[in-house]
Amino acid sequence: LQDGTPVTSAEQWISQRRPEVLELFQEHVFGHRPETVPQLRTRERSCTQDALGGKAVRRELTVFFSDDDAGPSMDILVYTPVAAETPVPCFLGFNFHGNHTVDPNPAIHVTSSWVRNDAKTGTVDHQATEQSRGKSSSRWPVDMIVSRGYGLATIYYGDVDPDFDDGFKNGIHAMLESDTSVRAGNAGGSISAWAWALSRALDVLEVDPLVDGSRVSTFGHSRLGKTSLWAGATDERFAMVISNDSGCGGAALSRRRFGETVKRINTSFPHWFCINHRRYNDNEDALPVDHHMLLALIAPRPVYVASAVDDQWADPRGEMLSLYHAGPVFELLGRSGLPNDDVATVDQPIQTDVGYHIRTGKHDVTDFDWTQYLN
Ligand code: GCU
Repeated sequence: LQDGTPVTSAEQWISQRRPEVLELFQEHVFGHRPETVPQLRTRERSCTQDALGGKAVRRELTVFFSDDDAGPSMDILVYTPVAAETPVPCFLGFNFHGNHTVDPNPAIHVTSSWVRNDAKTGTVDHQATEQSRGKSSSRWPVDMIVSRGYGLATIYYGDVDPDFDDGFKNGIHAMLESDTSVRAGNAGGSISAWAWALSRALDVLEVDPLVDGSRVSTFGHSRLGKTSLWAGATDERFAMVISNDSGCGGAALSRRRFGETVKRINTSFPHWFCINHRRYNDNEDALPVDHHMLLALIAPRPVYVASAVDDQWADPRGEMLSLYHAGPVFELLGRSGLPNDDVATVDQPIQTDVGYHIRTGKHDVTDFDWTQYLN
């Protein structure tokens, strides 16, 4: 505990230490999530029963965050197996380029939100085009997911908060923050905004007749993996949490200063974390938390951390050690963490009540990754 008392029981973790750790992440890393929970309105934008050659129901649900149709909204693209007789467990994750890039099917609406064409800065504003249909489909093996009996719900992250540093004026910030000109050091950045929207998507999935809202897993790659972890840490309704190559500010330990560092990430992406996080630029040892504690916030729910060999920027070893050191909290809550901190063998997943793998290849999402998540 913050007063120095060691935590020895599940009860102490749940009622005392977990809230302390959550507060530390809100104050020093991600900032507080918006507190407002607006009255959502959901409109079915499209529905087909014969997606994927008759295997899946595919729907586009527009979720309005206010009573104004012209105000902020997000489109959730949902696939569920046609064969399912009961509501299915479902993966929920943001995509980077628009729902129309997940699947080449021409019936899916091309996003009209801001899209980026520069992965690093995201400063270029332009319109998504027909040509980008399906361009991210290798990262979204919808057929495999549905064939295994699961649902998939995905949202374009640009619907919620465009990914560039604009002083928190666009996206949902303007709607949720009364005065965006004065920014508190602990006000949430874009990752908090995206995580908040995953919770709103869960609000919708919880009452969806085709999805089992008590078995929704967050999923995300890279910056959206950081978002997946933060959503799972802050919203205990998520049943499972997946981090695909989330790296610095996600699963990786900041104190290792390996690959991307706190200073690098706060400099390249000043809008992702809270302003207080900048105090730890070149000063990681002063951080009152490290990211194994982020993973511990998810316990006892399963968390899966995946790395890739050619993704040293995300510090695969630091991602694994982080999961290993979250182990004591899993144990305290009656679950098993990683058995040891031995360097993991490439392409050999380790699965207990948590999961880890490091696969061959680059910073990406592959069928190998999804196969392990489905397992
Ligand atoms: C950059 C950034 C990472 C991030 C990644 C991504 O590489 O430095 O922190 O995870 O972009 O989101 O693709």
